Amino acid sequence: MDEIRSVEDVNRKVKRVIITAQELSDQIKEAGKKIDEWYDGRPILLVSILKGSFVFLADLCRAVTVPCQIGFMCAKSYYSGTVSTGVVKITMDLDMDISNYNVIIVEDIIDTGRTLNDVVKILKARNPLSLRVVTLLDKPSRRLVDFKADLALFTIPDYFVIGYGLDCAEYFRNLPYIAEYNLSENE
Ligand code: IMP
Ligand code: MG
Repeated sequence: MDEIRSVEDVNRKVKRVIITAQELSDQIKEAGKKIDEWYDGRPILLVSILKGSFVFLADLCRAVTVPCQIGFMCAKSYYSGTVSTGVVKITMDLDMDISNYNVIIVEDIIDTGRTLNDVVKILKARNPLSLRVVTLLDKPSRRLVDFKADLALFTIPDYFVIGYGLDCAEYFRNLPYIAEYNLSENE
């Protein structure tokens, strides 16, 4: 990726907005209702997979009304740029025993499916009361392992996307919308 040195550099990398802030907000409200229905007043633990899901988590947790705790795990599959290394590493783990919790894994995007496949295996082995996966974005055409979320708010084609928590080389997470990343060097 080219160096990002200015606001103009950021703007040049935004090819087009594919999901607006309003669309994100509307879908997250619906997801909150769905989660309330699933648990019917029972407490939940939202486990945010860092770093990409931190913005989604912040909005999603305020869209649910069931009693809610928050946990963080850091799973890395993309080390830089837009190419997956295929290696999933847990670089920061939960600091609690989850065996008495209804757990929802909160993810930014499911691409090959490798990250969540591994994270789900790890968390299932800890015997939570229940385990579900909610992802903001789903790119089903890129799957390399068979994996389906319990709830995917938006299904998108095979674009590399940035914004609303998603990065390219650690930039663009602060954009308030989801945009297609401009891969071409000259635009
Ligand atoms: P998977 O293991 O291939 O499913 O990859 C999931 C992880 O890769 C996500 O949690 C993201 O951090 C990252 N990722 C996948 N696709 C994109 C994208 O289009 N933009 C930014 N990050 C992505
Ligand atoms: Mg991620």
